[in-house]
Amino acid sequence: MKYTRINLMIMTFAIAGISACGGGAEPDQTGAAPQSMVKKENVDPMSNTGIGPVAELILPAEIDAEMAKNGEEIYTLKCTACHKPLEKFIGPSPKGVLERRNPAWVMNMILNPDQMVKEDPIAKKLLMEYNGSPMANQSLTHDEARAIVEYFRTL
Ligand code: HEC
Repeated sequence: MKYTRINLMIMTFAIAGISACGGGAEPDQTGAAPQSMVKKENVDPMSNTGIGPVAELILPAEIDAEMAKNGEEIYTLKCTACHKPLEKFIGPSPKGVLERRNPAWVMNMILNPDQMVKEDPIAKKLLMEYNGSPMANQSLTHDEARAIVEYFRTL
């Protein structure tokens, strides 16, 4: 029968579609990632603000040169053990990080890295990429972290 055949075709496509999605999702280490977790791994890095004290950071169009200079000093003191400004070292280079990540995410990564590498999907992935070497909490204040973000804008 005509209609039955069409229905069957639709069903076949539907099933093929479902199994294609299932096959594409990578299981986590336990092998039993619920669908909600798999979805979170594909989160948009420009809209994900991360987990921590900073809910939102909207950067003004103009770079504040004085704040950036202050940020560079703090960065040189507290971050260069693991980060170089322009190339990959123990941690990633911060050059262009604000084109890859939401500014609030960067703030939370600086202020709350321990929870970020455990719970934020992007930070978790980064930790794996860097062979489990964690981003260190340097106990900065909000203003110090903000100044470093301003410095990152100049790189
Ligand atoms: C002990 C080494 C260490 C120190 C010190 C350190 N970091 Fe990191 N950082 C890392 C590592 C390793 C990663 C990547 C892996 C991870 O996230 O665990 C990282 C990741 C980051 C990221 C995310 C980069 C990206 O591409 O998404 C930012 C931003 C960052 N660090 C900023 C800082 C700042 C600012 C300081 C100084 C206040 C600092 N880090 C100090 C090791 C360090």
